[in-house]
Amino acid sequence: MTVPELSSTVRLMVNGAPHTLAVDNRTTLLDLLRDRLDRPGTKKGCDHGQCGACTVLLDGRRVNSCLLLAVAVDGREVTTVEGLADDEPHPMQAAFLAHDAFQCGYCTPGQICSAIGMLDELAAGWPSVVSDGVGHLDDAEIRERMAGNICRCGAYVNIVAAIREVAGGD
Ligand code: FES
Ligand code: FES
Repeated sequence: MTVPELSSTVRLMVNGAPHTLAVDNRTTLLDLLRDRLDRPGTKKGCDHGQCGACTVLLDGRRVNSCLLLAVAVDGREVTTVEGLADDEPHPMQAAFLAHDAFQCGYCTPGQICSAIGMLDELAAGWPSVVSDGVGHLDDAEIRERMAGNICRCGAYVNIVAAIREVAGGD
């Protein structure tokens, strides 16, 4: 009987650094980041694609890392919350701090990564059910576009304010 191959070699960039490692084919990107690459900023909430705590940027686009197998991101570029700041915090991080847009902070890495990805989607003209996606970003638009990110502390009002500041909306 042939024994199935259970591991694969994955090469990926994480926060600008290259990594090559053998992974069990069942490993999610989230577990790879947290358990193998020492990037615990990305949080595991539901592990089922429902809370957004695990959101990272994959080639600049927001994804739920708990829903992606590590082997599926071979050759791709991942940015986690640890990779957003240069010498200074990323503007979205600074806005979250300025607006007290968190309480326990557990959802915050996912909220920040998602907000950055969301603004890029808006700039690219992606529509939403609230509007045609063109023009200013009001609170309803922000709430709709961030609906995949849950905050158990209910910090939503300040999260919306922080995103609005970065977006320059009303
Ligand atoms: S942990 Fe991935 S969406 Fe909840
Ligand atoms: S700040 Fe606690 S879950 Fe969002």
